[in-house]
Amino acid sequence: MSRIKIFDTTLRDGEQSPGCSMNLKEKIEVARCLERLRVDVIEAGFAISSPGDFESVSTIARTVKDCTVASLARATVKDIDCAWEAVKMAADPRIHLFIATSPLHMEYKLRMTPEQVLERTAAMTAHAKKYCANIEFSAEDATRSDIDFLCRVVEVAIRNGATVVNLPDTVGYTTPDEMRSLISTVIARVPGSDRVEFSVHCHNDLGMAVANSLAGVMGGAQQIECTINGLGERAGNTSLEEAVMAMRTRPDIYGEDTTRIDTTQIARASRTVYSIIGQSAPLNKPIVGRNAFLHESGIHQHGVLANKRTYEILTPEAVGIRVSNLVLGKHSGRHAFADHLQAMGYELTEEELNRVFEEFKALCDKKKDISDRDIEAIITHSTTAAEQEEGGYQLDWFAVQTTNFTTATSTVSLKKGEEKFQAVSLGDGPIDAAFQAIDSIVAPVPHTFEVFRIDSTSEGKDTMGDVRIKLQAEGRTFSGHGLSTDIFEASIVAYLQALNRLNAWVERQKSAQ
Ligand code: KIV
Ligand code: ZN
Repeated sequence: MSRIKIFDTTLRDGEQSPGCSMNLKEKIEVARCLERLRVDVIEAGFAISSPGDFESVSTIARTVKDCTVASLARATVKDIDCAWEAVKMAADPRIHLFIATSPLHMEYKLRMTPEQVLERTAAMTAHAKKYCANIEFSAEDATRSDIDFLCRVVEVAIRNGATVVNLPDTVGYTTPDEMRSLISTVIARVPGSDRVEFSVHCHNDLGMAVANSLAGVMGGAQQIECTINGLGERAGNTSLEEAVMAMRTRPDIYGEDTTRIDTTQIARASRTVYSIIGQSAPLNKPIVGRNAFLHESGIHQHGVLANKRTYEILTPEAVGIRVSNLVLGKHSGRHAFADHLQAMGYELTEEELNRVFEEFKALCDKKKDISDRDIEAIITHSTTAAEQEEGGYQLDWFAVQTTNFTTATSTVSLKKGEEKFQAVSLGDGPIDAAFQAIDSIVAPVPHTFEVFRIDSTSEGKDTMGDVRIKLQAEGRTFSGHGLSTDIFEASIVAYLQALNRLNAWVERQKSAQ
């Protein structure tokens, strides 16, 4: 089997789904993870959809060196021009244009006849080709399209310069047999198919996205479109980690080294994406769920002790989950700590290492054994803490009073430069009360909570509270992160960080006017 390219659309199809929006810094962090994973193509966004998307696509295009960077575009001149403007500085830019080809979509969404869709495909593929050698054409809702018409559209796209042809299962409707046959039929019937790469893009509405993608590969597709953790519209897209590990685990079917993915980066990429969107993997999620490598039943444990392969078809190490008995604690020196971080795959600058080590030492005073998950949380937290908005509000001190028979009260003292501000408030619980006290000091613009999540970083009652907050205001998302053995403190810090970002953005808008 020829090499299969991995096209990641976490930053486009993944990010456009509810609850998964990311800000520019977060998108760049994800792009870095994707580069470390060695995906072939990063779909960085849909450049025309908003100024924020345009900015993130163009920033990623300039940042990423070792992957193709694509922007999505509808088959219109305006979209294509904008997509090109955004990706043109990339080392290897791609324009990804799409138009729907199913009767339903053509009639009710596009309000175009099949002949008009054919003409538009020809004209817009040719238009994109004037800018860029690397053109991907997608026939949206391909799996519900008439096969004869689909073949005509694909032929026109190839004749006008498409180099990759993608046949999406936009609504997650198809089955593996159908997908395999769709790809092989189009390849067999369309003249010029041998000059382009075919691609699959599957949604998971019936839980078959990974199976359908792999079936597409068996039908002749050379590219799989997928997302980290299977994020995406509705039930999501093909999950990168599942598709890649299926091919890696079954070389007898898919061949040796079919993708160029560095699978040891999978766990880290998955955790980064989950933590950015304020979620965590379902316990039984294949490859990255916490139970994916646990053997609880006696029979299984017995088998695994005798020979791991009895119940384990892939190892945690293969996806970058370190199985280490080494726990760090208050007697671990800076050297041992730095070595440990390196073994975990982190390369920090001297300054970053100093910051993280300081937080680690502070944590050692509160918690005896520090696990890798604690350390990861500290690294993420110290990076976000270092990105505090200049001149924002900081926590000075807080006090909460809560019982199960009175209304909770919180008092909060904030610092801004040399000034101090105090407020007290009642609330539906101490966190609500603390947030109301903060609101009365900060007076933020109206916002809603898109995410408010408190996770524990490890087992045990001395775990840290890892708090993620995402606020929605003015059509944007502002995130905050707090980490402490005290969940009230972690929540207050996370909320303040998100509010400081919101305030700074409002100020920048005012001064730009
Ligand atoms: O699901 C889909 O059809 C898409 C296309 C725009 C590629 O995301
Ligand atoms: Zn899609």
